[in-house]
Amino acid sequence: MTVKPPKKFFEPLAIGAPAPYREVPVTLERMIHFFPPHVEKMRAKVPEMAKNVDVLLGNLEDAIPADAKEAARAGFVEVAKNADLGGCSLWTRVNCLNSPWFLDDVTEIVAAAGDKVDVIMLPKVEGPWDIHYLDQLLAQLEARHNVKRPIMIHAILETALGVENVAAIAQASPRMHGMSLGPADLAASRGMKTTRVGGGHPFYGVLQDAQGEAPRTLFQQDLWHYTVAKMVDACQSAGIKAFYGPFGDFSDSAACEAQFRNAFLLGCAGAWSLHPSQIDIAKAVFSPDVNEVLFAKKILDAMPDGTGAVMIDGKMQDDATWKQAKVIVDLAKRVAA
Ligand code: GLV
Ligand code: MG
Repeated sequence: MTVKPPKKFFEPLAIGAPAPYREVPVTLERMIHFFPPHVEKMRAKVPEMAKNVDVLLGNLEDAIPADAKEAARAGFVEVAKNADLGGCSLWTRVNCLNSPWFLDDVTEIVAAAGDKVDVIMLPKVEGPWDIHYLDQLLAQLEARHNVKRPIMIHAILETALGVENVAAIAQASPRMHGMSLGPADLAASRGMKTTRVGGGHPFYGVLQDAQGEAPRTLFQQDLWHYTVAKMVDACQSAGIKAFYGPFGDFSDSAACEAQFRNAFLLGCAGAWSLHPSQIDIAKAVFSPDVNEVLFAKKILDAMPDGTGAVMIDGKMQDDATWKQAKVIVDLAKRVAA
């Protein structure tokens, strides 16, 4: 496919103009909190949950048993029509395109509650063609049901072919909201030898050099580093957001935090929370560190026009670090708002 250059690429910069900086979309989406909409008890908790999370997602796909798919869809429609979620966004994860449920998921949800749904998460996306199809379908349904604002699309990156096509997927439509890593499906699709949902693996590491007879340590590496970095580049260059997906071991909050933090440092905006204990982890990790914010503010204050070079606490700052600082300070402002 033809890759379009970013809009601002050829714009001349006036002398003294602030350094160019790509604004990320303003909504805070540190955690996408999943709930199973066929479970009445969980539907009843929605108004409370919405006070504590940035995004609530009614899951219709994996983890919902085949015989509960229709109940989950109906439960989600009920939530979307009735719940007052305040500032919390409402998303749904529909079943995959070639499943027996996808078409009814999208048509029934848009018909009944199209104005209440912010984002449709589409699993197992393999190329831009999948996004084009959903894009057209949404356009048809929005026209038919007089939906006032476009429903956005969020792709899950969870097949080897999807990873091959990640840049084209990110650029496939102005409806693209962002993309999440799906480490479980992706591991299976790639033939990786792990049964874990995200996180590291004790055998995926680099062995320390031998030093005589001393015991050697295997330093664990991040299994998802390559994919997250590739996804972040694809998303940021298309002006959309990247997210880490699920972390399946609810008993290991330290490992969850470490995985989320790697994703945050690499550029992700948030992660999924599948268990209430992961909400606070995501909130803490995807909000910038106070000391980092204070230092970033010093940089912005020291370089009001974003140009030149200064030393702060023995560290060199210039136009590039001004932009790094702006990323952190802008995020801190959104967290504080
Ligand atoms: C999420 O859907 C995953 O497969 O990890
Ligand atoms: Mg999956």
